[in-house]
Amino acid sequence: MQPQNRIRAFRMSDLDAVLAIERASFGADAYDRNLFAELFEKCGRLFLVAAAGSGVRAYAVTATAVRRETLCAELVSVAVGPAWRGQGMGSALLLGTLRRLRLRRVHRVTLAVRVSNRRGQALYAKFGFARLRRVRRYYEDGEDALVLCKRL
Ligand SMILES: CC(C)(COP(=O)(O)OP(=O)(O)OC[C@H]1O[C@@H](n2cnc3c(N)ncnc32)[C@H](O)[C@@H]1OP(=O)(O)O)[C@@H](O)C(=O)NCCC(=O)NCCS
Repeated sequence: MQPQNRIRAFRMSDLDAVLAIERASFGADAYDRNLFAELFEKCGRLFLVAAAGSGVRAYAVTATAVRRETLCAELVSVAVGPAWRGQGMGSALLLGTLRRLRLRRVHRVTLAVRVSNRRGQALYAKFGFARLRRVRRYYEDGEDALVLCKRL
């Protein structure tokens, strides 16, 4: 029987698995070890993984900041290992993230997604994210980003 996926907080022992998911998902754009260590320090328990037994299959990391006296969040990154996509793990991570943000009384969450990333956009649309603006040449290779937003 396959072990069940569980959403839990990231720990440093997950780092190698998260890096492997990252490289498989984003190639040349992948965040490196140091950046993930920094994100862990900054985001704490808003750095989540989907784990089954001792295996990590997906992660999502979200940062919060106060802007104009309002607590806001940015979904920095979410990725599911290629073998595990389309099985609800991205949705479970997003749901877990939104629940934690509401508990912290965060008012809104934003994120950036490549205009070509239809699958990512489908995931965010499912959770009610709406388009705020398009940012030209946001990515290093010159592709535009869509900035999406959801009020909580
Ligand atoms: C985007 C990503 C995180 C989605 O994770 P996932 O676990 O595959 O998503 P889910 O199984 O929860 O599906 C979420 C929604 O995505 C859409 N979706 C799922 N599989 C899809 C596919 N093969 N093609 C298009 N859309 C798809 C559906 O709308 C689905 O909702 P529904 O099944 O309830 O209708 C994952 O594909 C991934 O890691 N991609 C590479 C990294 C990435 O692009 N991250 C986002 C950067 S902004």
